Amino acid sequence: METERKDGAVTFLRPLLISASNAFQRHPSTIADQLVVTLLELSNASPRGGASTVQACQALDGVLAPGRIANKPLLLEIGRVYRRLAWRAAGAGKVPEPARSRLAVSEIIGPDGLIEHDRCRFGLFFQMPEVNYPAHSHEAEELYLVVDGAAEWAVDASPPQRFSCGSFSYIPSRCVHAIRTAKVPLLAFWVWAGDVGFDSYRMKNISAPFFAGEQIE
Ligand SMILES: [Fe+2]
Repeated sequence: METERKDGAVTFLRPLLISASNAFQRHPSTIADQLVVTLLELSNASPRGGASTVQACQALDGVLAPGRIANKPLLLEIGRVYRRLAWRAAGAGKVPEPARSRLAVSEIIGPDGLIEHDRCRFGLFFQMPEVNYPAHSHEAEELYLVVDGAAEWAVDASPPQRFSCGSFSYIPSRCVHAIRTAKVPLLAFWVWAGDVGFDSYRMKNISAPFFAGEQIE
């Protein structure tokens, strides 16, 4: 794994990774601490692979419109690079329609990321308005930082909680969770730590009712 450029050049990702490391310093957890170290270690690593896009990226263009983000430093950093990232379907490709085409994930660091890493996945997550990302679970523990908009997270049997810009949402390993947006979209950083393989990723056979207190399988 290349962790530092020898030519002294700065990669296009460095400002975003530094900004993200500063943002995650605010969360008192091991997963955030480890991410901050990883982001700083890899801030000059050379990205591999090319850009790609999915359907939901069209809506992301509106969120990151230059006039809208002019006074928001973190969104400006994202706006500078998001077209150069590799966007894909969320949830290991296992999320069904109608959510599937309304979600977009970019893995910046990770086994499938622009910067290779085998023990964490880090990137951006986008969910269009009025979408339910159905209930699912995985071995990796997960942490989101909302950078624009808002969403509700339902985790196991707890009542759904709404998180807006600047808030963190933490999901322990193996917990069943779902994400629901209302009138505004959600743009967030996300990180997986621990067992970051996709083999354990499972959709649960429940969707919107998860938010109405229906039993979890
Ligand atoms: Fe998840």
